[in-house]
Amino acid sequence: MKILIIGDVVGRAGRNIIQQELTNLKSKYQVDITIANCENASGGNGLTEKNAKEFFENGVDIITMGNHVWDKKDIVNYIDDYTNLIRPANYPDPCPGKGYTIFEKNGIKIGVINISGIVYLNNLICPFTTIDAILEEISSKCKIIILDFHGEATSEKIAMGYYSDGRVSLVYGTHTHVQTADKRILPQGTGYITDVGMTGPFDGVLGVDKDIIIQHLKSRRPVKFEIATGIMQINGLYVEINEKTGKCEAIDNFIKVIE
Ligand SMILES: [Fe+2]
Ligand SMILES: [Fe+2]
Repeated sequence: MKILIIGDVVGRAGRNIIQQELTNLKSKYQVDITIANCENASGGNGLTEKNAKEFFENGVDIITMGNHVWDKKDIVNYIDDYTNLIRPANYPDPCPGKGYTIFEKNGIKIGVINISGIVYLNNLICPFTTIDAILEEISSKCKIIILDFHGEATSEKIAMGYYSDGRVSLVYGTHTHVQTADKRILPQGTGYITDVGMTGPFDGVLGVDKDIIIQHLKSRRPVKFEIATGIMQINGLYVEINEKTGKCEAIDNFIKVIE
């Protein structure tokens, strides 16, 4: 099973790149399923239903989210209508939406899970007990299981990789918008990278106009964030998973800059 992962899509710029580049990337890697983190896709924060539909129309199979999931408030009204739009599983109940989905491709079931870290992020339910509970439910149903672990601290993400090693096929980090150079296959066969990076402006600070962020950091006063313009980038990960064992057999990261 060949899987393409797309790092946090930021704003209209990120959405345009998906529209322009995704078809080519999918055919280049001959991918079976595509998963994109879209927590910043609408105006930099959150996801509108219109934009969610566009991602599915443009070839994204599963959308994962993160700490910005509720920023476009209407999502609480539509999230339950979309089987393949998931949010971090460790929000306390009752909470709209769900933290994992089971996607079927070529007769094979692929479990996709979204969990948020809690170090330097929202104080949610423990991510480690959350993954245990979900695996208890779905391990017997799916051989291939993918985890988008949306975290700030590299330590927490690496720990989650080792904690899940041998129990899931791939653990990849999202949220920091900076791709890390540590892709690997862990000892028990789980593919791993601390962060896949972002899709949107290349020449900004995590997607935001650099001058605005410098002004904010120097003045320590609130500013209105605006998405950067200019050169664009798409960041992601390509993995191959053995359909019989569920283990990762190949992992390759990419950063494509678009002038
Ligand atoms: Fe993000
Ligand atoms: Fe985030």
